[in-house]
Amino acid sequence: MVAALQFRGVAITQPARCEIATTFVRIFATGQHFEGQFSPCDRKNPQPMSDLWLRALRLQMSGCRDNRCAVIGWIAALPPATRKRKTGKLFIGGTRTERATLMNNDFSTIGSDPAVLGGTPVFAEKVPIVRPVLPKFDALADDMAEIVGSGMVTKGKHLRALEQAAAEHLQVRHAVAVSSCTSGLMLTYQALGLTGDVVVPSFTFMATVSSMIWAGLRPVFADVDYGTTNLDPRRAEDAITPNTSAIVAVHNFGNPADIAALKDLAERRGLKLIFDAAHGFGCRYEGTPVGGQADAHVYSLSPTKLVIAAEGGIVATNDDALAEHIRIGREYGMSDYDSRFAGLNSRMSEFSALLGCRSLALLEPGILRRQEVSEIFRRELGDLPGIDFQAVRPVDRCSYKDFSITVVESAFGLSRDQLRAAMEAENIDTRRYYTPPVHRQQAYREFAPAEESLSNTNVLSQRCLSLPIWSRMDDEVVLGICQAVRRIHGSIGKVAAAIR
Ligand SMILES: Cc1ncc(COP(=O)(O)O)c(C=O)c1O
Repeated sequence: MVAALQFRGVAITQPARCEIATTFVRIFATGQHFEGQFSPCDRKNPQPMSDLWLRALRLQMSGCRDNRCAVIGWIAALPPATRKRKTGKLFIGGTRTERATLMNNDFSTIGSDPAVLGGTPVFAEKVPIVRPVLPKFDALADDMAEIVGSGMVTKGKHLRALEQAAAEHLQVRHAVAVSSCTSGLMLTYQALGLTGDVVVPSFTFMATVSSMIWAGLRPVFADVDYGTTNLDPRRAEDAITPNTSAIVAVHNFGNPADIAALKDLAERRGLKLIFDAAHGFGCRYEGTPVGGQADAHVYSLSPTKLVIAAEGGIVATNDDALAEHIRIGREYGMSDYDSRFAGLNSRMSEFSALLGCRSLALLEPGILRRQEVSEIFRRELGDLPGIDFQAVRPVDRCSYKDFSITVVESAFGLSRDQLRAAMEAENIDTRRYYTPPVHRQQAYREFAPAEESLSNTNVLSQRCLSLPIWSRMDDEVVLGICQAVRRIHGSIGKVAAAIR
């Protein structure tokens, strides 16, 4: 069947053909329409578009060098028999398998009106902020059955395997598995004998700080660098008091902190240095995994992270005494039924250890894909006024546990919260990490310093927006997210009026 249809929306799919993808999106964004004749695809047998249509399209697309790109279109005027289908997918070129794969993607294309103004949402279904990548169940089944069959559901060989694999990966002498990053931090603060004040950023997740309160410490908040969003070593130095025993810094969103400067500061002032490395698996500091560069690094293995053990944490250190304390501390602090100190139950089950071990094996491909996704975000959104990105040094590698943009209202035309609401209408989940910052949260206000001392923290907490990212995110999803931001920006005045 051949039908004359008006072709209204275009999007892209071939990962290796990003320049073509961009061209399509830009043509689409200008609101031009193409008309031509082609064969509608059916789900079982996607057809290539006709040569005629292809030539016509090529004429319109300066910069399109070959036909190995796929096009997904929105059919506005379907013949009566198929009119009930509101959206359709059309393809140019590619192999049959590629076309079939694309047919099964849920990505639907759109008109130029943002959804918040009544347009079709870029995504038919909600794009979550994160989609954990887990090993296939079949790959776990035998070991799971063995764990259950043996009755050895905790403190077994999978725990040892995870600890060994993590220590090798992080290039440290000890990687001690615990039930969460939070409990790992609590035990680490205790093990290092910290007392009094601890310098810590407020632009972080609350667990960096709650664990301190449990260890009887007083958080002294210091500002972060605006570009990297990590603890600023100069502000950390300003925050040191006569009672300070340690500095706790964070590799925020997976961006390695300024380890050298913080280490230098800690050594000069005789302080312990600990990193909350909840986002740290996959991070490299000047080519080396973060892990061995301080007294301790404490990781999270919860489901939003790159290495997942369902729930869990790892304390990485080269300090034998510290590792020993965590091993005892994760089991009530007991040694032969005598309590050496007040510990916790912070053990990791064998199921979690098995999952964590297998998940660690998936880390490297995941992190490489996140680098590509972040490059696409930066390329596709980088020219929008008022949108900026976390500063990552070229010598470091960010894990991109989160991909965070800053939205400067005066330049972009919308506040971060307005953009977030408009993205929500496009079916795109986002997060306001970190709003409010820790020092403004109810439980920690009593520790808040003068607001001027946390000026970057306060500004970032109004501007930062985390976009969805995960380790197997397809090009269509990241480009769809960018397309959403661009078309929202294309109607900025009306969107601003619609979302007050
Ligand atoms: C910076 C930071 N620290 C600590 C934690 C707590 O980790 P967990 O849930 O493993 O205790 C998180 C959790 O996301 C985090 O983002």
